Amino acid sequence: MNNSHDVWRGSFCIEVSPIPNTIVIFGASGDLTHRKLLPALFHLYRKKLLHENSIIVGCARTPMTDEEFKDKVTERLAGVAAKFSEEFTSFIDKVFYHTGHYDDPNTYAELALKLCKLEKQRCPDACRVYYLSTPSNIYIDIVSLLGEAGLTHESSSGMPWRHVVIEKPFGHDLKSAEIIDRQLHKTLRESQIYRIDHYLGKETVQNIMMMRFANIIFEPIWNNHYISNVQITAAESIGVEHRAGYYEQSGLLRDMFQNHMLEMLSLVAMEAPASFEANAVRNEKLKLIQSIRPFTPASVKNDFIRGQYGAGKVYSEDVPAYRAEENVAPESMIETYACGRFFIDNWRWRGVPFYIRSGKRLANRTSEIAITFKQVPHSIFNPIRPEDLSPNQLVLNIQPEEGMALSIEAKQPGPKLCMGTLTMDFKYSEVFDSTALGAYERLLLDCMLGDQTLFIRNDIIKASWELFEPVLNAWETPGTDIPLHIYESGGQGPEQADLRFFKDGLRWRKI
Ligand code: BG6
Repeated sequence: MNNSHDVWRGSFCIEVSPIPNTIVIFGASGDLTHRKLLPALFHLYRKKLLHENSIIVGCARTPMTDEEFKDKVTERLAGVAAKFSEEFTSFIDKVFYHTGHYDDPNTYAELALKLCKLEKQRCPDACRVYYLSTPSNIYIDIVSLLGEAGLTHESSSGMPWRHVVIEKPFGHDLKSAEIIDRQLHKTLRESQIYRIDHYLGKETVQNIMMMRFANIIFEPIWNNHYISNVQITAAESIGVEHRAGYYEQSGLLRDMFQNHMLEMLSLVAMEAPASFEANAVRNEKLKLIQSIRPFTPASVKNDFIRGQYGAGKVYSEDVPAYRAEENVAPESMIETYACGRFFIDNWRWRGVPFYIRSGKRLANRTSEIAITFKQVPHSIFNPIRPEDLSPNQLVLNIQPEEGMALSIEAKQPGPKLCMGTLTMDFKYSEVFDSTALGAYERLLLDCMLGDQTLFIRNDIIKASWELFEPVLNAWETPGTDIPLHIYESGGQGPEQADLRFFKDGLRWRKI
């Protein structure tokens, strides 16, 4: 195994210094708060990336005192609390609680008093992050009441800032997304809105930009002259779990394509931004999404497949069909799998298919981007023909094993001319220690530093709904003849997904 000192040379690091932030979490009794947000904040604290004068205020309807909330957090984070007891004790000192109903103006007036009092003791100029970890249908109420209580007000210098973090879904379709956006902008400026896509917080997703734009060797071949196709996959082995209430309204296309998949596609395919500054990066992403060939009712039939998991076995365990899951309608037509073929109509990508798929209850959990290059134009190794040589492939592994692998053709040692494929395999875990930030750590940190690069801008949301609306309309039109393929849990998804797109030996990569 490589040692990080052998392979990691000449590093240039942009130092990060935390600044005091008050983090208010609405929905503090919810699952996301205890599973992701508080552990992420604690890990930032351990890494000295949460400023000493920062505080965390949970806010929810359940009446609780500060002490009771601290006990609850300690109980939910028992593992880390025991392992790092000293650091956890000083972390929990920074945690407070505020009880209130989200639609009651008094909640916000009292919150304003509480925040002033707490900040006065530690840092009167602290910036603030309001994290809305609540159902999305109450975002607007919370934001407008925060505004009415003066809690989102920033001076003209923008400091100390007042940032609001929201999670998807950002609307259900184009129209509802535009309404939400208009409502948010009644209280907030775009620079105050941090729309999270947790995929962008993943190290390997961020590394796509470093790989493309900090190296010279990829750019000259990163186009339709050398690349034959790109496959982007986000496969999960889990099912809908306890989220049927949301999923029955959403389905996979809204849940994964409209955000995570499209973000990965844009990072792989966009032009080089003028700088690594938030708007420069987001401008290029927008341009790319706007260059994707629009879908029409006719092209949806050819370019998309939808499926829903039936019963089966995942990792040798019997699992029920989607329609047999808790709170799922017995005749539900919601898709738990989708794949599509995208074309980008610009000079760089004209004619290169981007195949994108995502699904639940598949054989494994794996997310990756596989770039397949073209075949060599001629073989000098007679009788080996060009088509006998496997095209080079670069696979960016997003998860679970983060890294990248490049396959090349090579000669086997020995007197005979035997060619075969070798893979140069790089795994993050073999090179770096565990200092990598988790996705929520990274995104919370950026929000506390005022960096919007990894957050989604409103025009990108709009462009992505514009792109997918024809697909959703075609699928959701009553009496549509577009089939919903039932696939066996624990497999590769519907077999139609291979048959539809690939006629020449090409296949979806094995999950
Ligand atoms: C979420 C979706 O955004 O991403 C979930 O709502 C999905 O349905 C999850 O399971 C996948 O994220 P990850 O990081 O596990 O790939």
